[in-house]
Amino acid sequence: MRGVGDRGQKMLLSLIRQRSIQCIHLAEDVLQSGISHPPCGQAGCLIHRDELTRYRLESTVDRLEFVTVEGLLAYGEMLARRTAGEGITLPPIPTSSVDRVPRAQLTPQLVEDRIVLDLGEDRFWLLPRDLTGRTLLFTMRHGISRMESSTYRVGRRIANVLDPERGVPKADAVGAALARMLGVVGQQLDFLHIHNYLDPRTFVHLVSQSPNTRQLYERVIVALMQAQADHAEALPPACDPALDSQDFGWVTGLEKKVEAEEAAKAFGVDVPTAKRLIKHPLYSYPGGHSFFDVYVDIVDGFRRLGQFHQGKAVCVYSHSSTLRALMIYLDPRPFREAFTEFGEYKEGQDNVVLLAYEQGLLSGYSTAVGLSARERAVRETWVKVERERRDRITLQPRQIKRIVALVSGGDFAGAGAALKELRVTGNRFGLEVHFVRHGFLGLANNWIKAVTEQDTRGMGSHASSPIGSSRFEDFKDEQVQQATMRHLRPYMEDGALVVIGGDGSLRGARALYEAFGVQAVGIPGSIDNNIAGTTSLGFHSAVSLANQSIESLKATSSAMGSVFFVEIMGAGSGHLALACAYQARAEGLLVNEHPDPDAYIDDFILGTLKRTFGVPNKSHLFVVAEQTPHRHHPDGGVQGLVEYVASTLATWPQFQARPGEYRLAPTTKATILGHTLRGAPPTPEDKTIGQDLAYEAIRRLVKEPERVVGCMLAYRGPGTIEAIPLHAVAPKQFDWEIFARMHGSELP
Ligand code: F6P
Repeated sequence: MRGVGDRGQKMLLSLIRQRSIQCIHLAEDVLQSGISHPPCGQAGCLIHRDELTRYRLESTVDRLEFVTVEGLLAYGEMLARRTAGEGITLPPIPTSSVDRVPRAQLTPQLVEDRIVLDLGEDRFWLLPRDLTGRTLLFTMRHGISRMESSTYRVGRRIANVLDPERGVPKADAVGAALARMLGVVGQQLDFLHIHNYLDPRTFVHLVSQSPNTRQLYERVIVALMQAQADHAEALPPACDPALDSQDFGWVTGLEKKVEAEEAAKAFGVDVPTAKRLIKHPLYSYPGGHSFFDVYVDIVDGFRRLGQFHQGKAVCVYSHSSTLRALMIYLDPRPFREAFTEFGEYKEGQDNVVLLAYEQGLLSGYSTAVGLSARERAVRETWVKVERERRDRITLQPRQIKRIVALVSGGDFAGAGAALKELRVTGNRFGLEVHFVRHGFLGLANNWIKAVTEQDTRGMGSHASSPIGSSRFEDFKDEQVQQATMRHLRPYMEDGALVVIGGDGSLRGARALYEAFGVQAVGIPGSIDNNIAGTTSLGFHSAVSLANQSIESLKATSSAMGSVFFVEIMGAGSGHLALACAYQARAEGLLVNEHPDPDAYIDDFILGTLKRTFGVPNKSHLFVVAEQTPHRHHPDGGVQGLVEYVASTLATWPQFQARPGEYRLAPTTKATILGHTLRGAPPTPEDKTIGQDLAYEAIRRLVKEPERVVGCMLAYRGPGTIEAIPLHAVAPKQFDWEIFARMHGSELP
């Protein structure tokens, strides 16, 4: 401690003891010794450990060997001599460590089903289709303030205000840019028939403690609210600690140049080397914290805000460190590489970062990030196809006189409820309603018939399709389609076709729309529930019926100790099997989507049985999706699986007879529920979905044909029906989160 004054010594000792001051060596010591990470000080906290490990592996080349305790003390002495300038509060000498929220696993991930919006100049926004269960966060930085962060270490301890000459106009420009972007978004959401959820009157506003962020809020809302015809007022801003900028502790207010010179002097190195140390993301400011700390706090904080404000759009007014942290987080490259690009503030950097929070994950894009060549090509195709779709709409509002409806593909419950509603609402709007027997096959055979009130009596509760359905592969042939058109065309003058069915049936509807201009509307119906963005009719009823069988199998399994495999249909997808297994608390689930079904059988199914076999009253029920491939039979599913599991169990000691003891000899059996689920009685939920979709189809065909023709109506939840263009109908992603939860492990 030679040569260091009393105050400097005390401060430094305190900082070192608390690990508030750190260098890379300290961080590495901490890693090696396996104790808690340096800035937090909480034993067992892994908040930085993984990131530090990763960082350490990547950064061995730029170790800063010169940081010594003497150097740190000299530096501390210099800082301790400082007197605070005007408006600057230096930190008190710290006495206790600061608690931090543990960092959860963070994985940037793009939201499924996102909409890519072209903002011009090669910039895009990726937005969700609606805000149900999601939060949108528009993050802006304050711009130019009186004490400029390009020259000084400003940070959270300085109550900085906007520079009146340059800062205020810049804040106005940020507001104008946001308002413009929202205008473009509004237009494009409208173009896609999606409800415009970006109403500035409902936005939540959040600021940091620094007055400049509140000033930015004031300028931005002027721009946002200008366009509001009703002169409504924006909500007042709330302050949130996640939005504060980095804490530079004792260095607060120091000119960056002076800071580097002093550090160089103290450590006996040249200024560029000292600058390298200061720029390091783990370099912690004495009495403050490191950039890595801010990064973690910001990402944690934004996840908290996202969770808290679900269903809302939130405007966040913050600092450049917030934007940098978010850009690093959103960048797919490793932290170190992204940090190299965004670690320092650049004037040309964007002022707004758009984030979406969904299912515990933050995802998003900075407006600075363009699309990859592949994404751009996909987007261009989308825009072109979507334009063509709109060009094919010929129906005008209130022009429609008749509809023709059919059910196609594997049948499902709820079709009757939808058909009945089509008839009832159609007649109420003055339309003739015609049904086709047996789907596209019936269309090709001209089995089209006008329906009356009498025909549809009792239809709402009908299991399966009261007008039949069919698979008609020949319909893919264009000649067959042309022949079909000869029957359909007379009805299509001032008329529309409603197709109720799964993905294949909706492809049929799309073909008739695109090739022949048939004003077609799709309603999703399939027990498989495999279409993205919607619940399909029949799914809930199939789960409900499967549940009865599964529950009785569970009961007998627990009584007899038997092992049961229940095979569920799903046409190669595991959504139905997952829903059945999840609600019944099955012991396991084998699905097509699994990357390695054989490993799942050996490790999970047999592993579970090893633990639970012979436990009194324990059931052993596994759900298997049909056709799931495995090495025990070429057709997959339960075939070969039962034999394999039974023969393996037979070799276990639990099965071996012992002298003088009689053993329970449980059997291993398969039950194939198969087609039983398609004829399930419709549950109230399916009837409601069917009626809602059918009602909305007719209402839009009459009043707003441009919002339904060439589209499938997607059921997102009670009261939320949206149109998805038929060309954009896509397969649903398997819900790995539920799968993980079933298996007792949470996914990130
Ligand atoms: O698509 C519905 C569905 O029930 C699937 O789950 C199943 O794979 C398939 O139909 C069975 O089709 P089929 O009626 O031709 O036996």
